[in-house]
Amino acid sequence: MTSENRRPPIAVVLLAAGRGVRMASNRAKVLHRIAGQPMLHFAMRAAMSLTPERMAIVVGREAEAVADCARSLGPDADICVQDKRLGTGHAVRAARRALQGFEGRLVVLFGDTPFVRPETLARLADASDAVSVLGFETPEPGGYGRLVMDGDRLLRIVEAGDASAEELAVTACNSGAMAGPAQTVFRLLDRVSPRNVQGEYYLTEIAALAREEGVPVRAIFCDAAETMGVNDRADLAAAEAAFQARARARAMAAGATLIAPETVHFAWDTALGRDVLIEPNVVFGPGVEIADGAVVRAFCHIAGTRIASGACVGPFARLRDGSEIGEGARIGNFVEMKKTVFGPGAKAGHLAYVGDASVGARANLGAGAITCNYDGVSKHRTEIGERAFIGVNTALVAPVVVGEDAYTATGGVITNDVPPGDLAIARARQTNKPGLGRKLRERLTGRKAEGG
Ligand code: UD1
Ligand code: CA
Repeated sequence: MTSENRRPPIAVVLLAAGRGVRMASNRAKVLHRIAGQPMLHFAMRAAMSLTPERMAIVVGREAEAVADCARSLGPDADICVQDKRLGTGHAVRAARRALQGFEGRLVVLFGDTPFVRPETLARLADASDAVSVLGFETPEPGGYGRLVMDGDRLLRIVEAGDASAEELAVTACNSGAMAGPAQTVFRLLDRVSPRNVQGEYYLTEIAALAREEGVPVRAIFCDAAETMGVNDRADLAAAEAAFQARARARAMAAGATLIAPETVHFAWDTALGRDVLIEPNVVFGPGVEIADGAVVRAFCHIAGTRIASGACVGPFARLRDGSEIGEGARIGNFVEMKKTVFGPGAKAGHLAYVGDASVGARANLGAGAITCNYDGVSKHRTEIGERAFIGVNTALVAPVVVGEDAYTATGGVITNDVPPGDLAIARARQTNKPGLGRKLRERLTGRKAEGG
């Protein structure tokens, strides 16, 4: 039998009910985003890596919003309401009903600790009868709970606010994540008392209680980078910076060139292929995939977009919401695209807005080409055929279809479909008034001299 086969079933309790007072926010802390993803989802994804049999999410502050956010990623999660914020131990107890009859191993995670790696959680969850605590070493333990050890043995956990000067000097800290046999954990939690500085029921107290009862207690250590807890806006910024540093390193290790890595901002799920070139000052929102050899030039903002190999985007382009850029396509400065499939080899070199559109292979959009996709109530589609040529300053009033190989002349307002191969001219014919320009100037100059 392998050790995996022997692994008992796992249930995760994720704590997300806290007040988050130190955030000074009107929104629950776990809804704040890192790299475009709510903090809660980072913790949930880590939890899911354990393929838990059950997952309970404890909500309280902004309960509905937090529950909605949880369900959007884990529709099967049990939402448990902690009616009062009486501490982390009290919060775990709120999940007792959801875990009734569960005999496996319970893993407790915090919604405000986003970066714990799946490998680390697997170690914490690993088969054992012990109450296990995930700890880390840091030279600046600050407000973290301290792990009071005797050699390798964990004696107890002391919150910073309750610690003696001697205990404050301890550099082994509590990450917040813990695991143990589910029913043992609940039994120990019943014995936790709120006699401490904060008057709260601390989850951390079960370490000492377990030792008292002769239940084995273990501390497992991981890198401090994984256990960063977010309590205030400065922590949030630090977590973002840490995420970005890792994302940049990952992208480069996978073969992307970042000319100025510190100026490229990634989303949690940005996926770059090999030999992708990213120039300075590029921001990625969620949902971006860029295939091998594509180029993103400086100052682009890209979200919800797939870019095929060999395409070139920017400088100063904005792509969003479900756009797909075909192989070898060219998108130049001050072009915005939304929900647009832009065919292979198609070009929009400058100053265009293309929304709710499909653009055929090798079509060309001139400067100032605009899809008029919104009538104030609904969005409408524009279809542009292969090799079509959209003249400078063409307004395409959707819904409208421009056939393949068709042309629209400069300055047109295209309200009717253009059949394949046709030339659409949709502008007033020019008339010249002989000499009238000079006369006009004389009249205007005279008026100015009279002080008019
Ligand atoms: C906690 C730990 C501390 C550890 C630190 C790591 C306790 C008593 N302290 O302190 O040892 O070093 O995390 O980051 O466990 N929550 C609830 N309901 C509550 C209180 C909290 O759901 O009544 C949730 C919060 O939403 C949060 C998590 O529990 O996700 C941790 O709570 P927080 O108040 O941030 O604890 P810390 O003071 O950071
Ligand atoms: Ca915290």
